[in-house]
Amino acid sequence: MTLLFKVPDERASVWKALFAEHAPDIPVRFWPDIGDPAQVRYFAAWQPPADLYERFTELEVVFATSAGVDQFDLAHVPDLVSVVRMLDPGIAQGIIEYAGFAVLGLHRQLPTYLQQQREGVWKAHPLLAASKRRVGVMGLGNLGQATLNTLRPFGFALSGWSRTLKTLPGVQCYGGLEQLPDFLGSCDILLCLLPLTHDTAGILNAQTFAALPAGASLINLGRGGHLVEADLLAALDSGHLAHAIVDVLQEEPPRSDHPFLDHPKIWLTPHIGAMTDPHSAFEVLLENIRRHQRGEDMVGLVEPGTGY
Ligand code: GLV
Repeated sequence: MTLLFKVPDERASVWKALFAEHAPDIPVRFWPDIGDPAQVRYFAAWQPPADLYERFTELEVVFATSAGVDQFDLAHVPDLVSVVRMLDPGIAQGIIEYAGFAVLGLHRQLPTYLQQQREGVWKAHPLLAASKRRVGVMGLGNLGQATLNTLRPFGFALSGWSRTLKTLPGVQCYGGLEQLPDFLGSCDILLCLLPLTHDTAGILNAQTFAALPAGASLINLGRGGHLVEADLLAALDSGHLAHAIVDVLQEEPPRSDHPFLDHPKIWLTPHIGAMTDPHSAFEVLLENIRRHQRGEDMVGLVEPGTGY
């Protein structure tokens, strides 16, 4: 019943110590020291090897150490293997901090003021009341909802879009592709927190940007695969979109000549929106292993077919 981790070395030592102290009954190994592949029942990683399912034939559960599970080739998961996404409170905390700084930065026109500073310009612009600033969140899972809860006290006009219609207090909710244009038309700031699935790949594209009000801005905290990067460049260069804050790219790390790296209307960060904290994630992971051992439902189980 071995649990095999594939994580960076500095994290491996933290996980190892946590299991040794709190769950010594669970045999834990760390990539590349995989031992006998037939003993591996649980696998935990952000980036799996390409041959995961062929190599570990007795695998029962794949635990993503990330919120997103798109990297696990969900279309080819064997029937008897479950995939579980990481519902670490540390990830939610990271996302709400990043989303908070990004929305407030755009709301308070920081891109304009930083540009003015570079140009030596001292000039105040009218301040829009938060209640007049329309902030829309795509993806209303635990991260989208945590973000909306954080933004609510500022008084923003909040809306949210998800595949299936949800009801959230104080949030104008839209559901399904047929309601996407209405949602987009009501977003001065659009924040993507969607899972990357077959349906959401490339959803941040020219058509989406055209449906946003002129002068809107984008924050992508989802996956690089959500964004058609050339379409964002076109929308920024035409002036239809004002600014973008991007934490994820199609290809990470980007080539040294990637146009986002020095684009004046893009703030780019290296996929740091949230990082799993092994200390808080440990409790979530251990609870799920115990549930699995008892034959109970695990928390964060990915539903086959939906991709999240
Ligand atoms: C990070 O990108 C995550 O999915 O947790």
